[in-house]
Amino acid sequence: MQRSVGAGVTDYWNARAPKFDGAASHVAQRELWQAVLEAAFQADGPKDVVDLGTGTGACALLAASLGHRVRACDGSANMLEVARAVARQAGLAIAFQDSTIEAAEIADASADIVTLRNVLWTLERPIEALLQAHRILRPGGLVLVSDGLWSVAPQYRSTYPEELAARLPLHDGLTEAAAQDLLTRAGFTGFRRWQHLFPASPYPGNVPVFVLTARSLAG
Ligand SMILES: C[S@@+](CC[C@H](N)C(=O)[O-])C[C@H]1O[C@@H](n2cnc3c(N)ncnc32)[C@H](O)[C@@H]1O
Repeated sequence: MQRSVGAGVTDYWNARAPKFDGAASHVAQRELWQAVLEAAFQADGPKDVVDLGTGTGACALLAASLGHRVRACDGSANMLEVARAVARQAGLAIAFQDSTIEAAEIADASADIVTLRNVLWTLERPIEALLQAHRILRPGGLVLVSDGLWSVAPQYRSTYPEELAARLPLHDGLTEAAAQDLLTRAGFTGFRRWQHLFPASPYPGNVPVFVLTARSLAG
């Protein structure tokens, strides 16, 4: 029997978890990422933030250090184990949930900000994650999506087995325009871009990257 795409993706990240932060942009360039998120959140005080596909907690940890109340989920228990350890060490209270984005138990209209960083490329049905973000957000809430055109630097990118990669529509990565199109279909509007705050691509291989925010339309 063929294994599900989700199971293949989870296996991959479970195996990769112990070494992920060693090469990660959010660790090497922590201050830059924090400044970009702080600007992009446009928050006038502590907000309810949800990080979907948090991995080792990149956006969750930064959001919590900015003073926000943070929940986060991921399908990989091993990635979450790293995230929990880093949060503990940093004294940051983050509610981590061991769950896929699609099955996450997060109440409707319970968040002001939802983040998805480097997650859309690895999903079989990316639109479902954005619909989930829309459901979780209060009307007028902010979604932040960041991703890149990973095929530009294949030597640095995560490499899935070929048969798994073939089932992911955005496996090559995505552009800001593609993300904007998906977000529009999921009910978001009022786009703002933030990648200009990076002096250069924050990823090796000069991968074109975008950081895009949009607002949830009511209903
Ligand atoms: C490239 S990592 C990005 C992690 C983190 N967002 C970051 O910016 O460092 C992709 C993460 O998405 C998670 N993931 C993939 N598909 C998922 C799904 N359907 N539900 C929850 N997590 C998922 C993987 O387990 C992995 O931790």
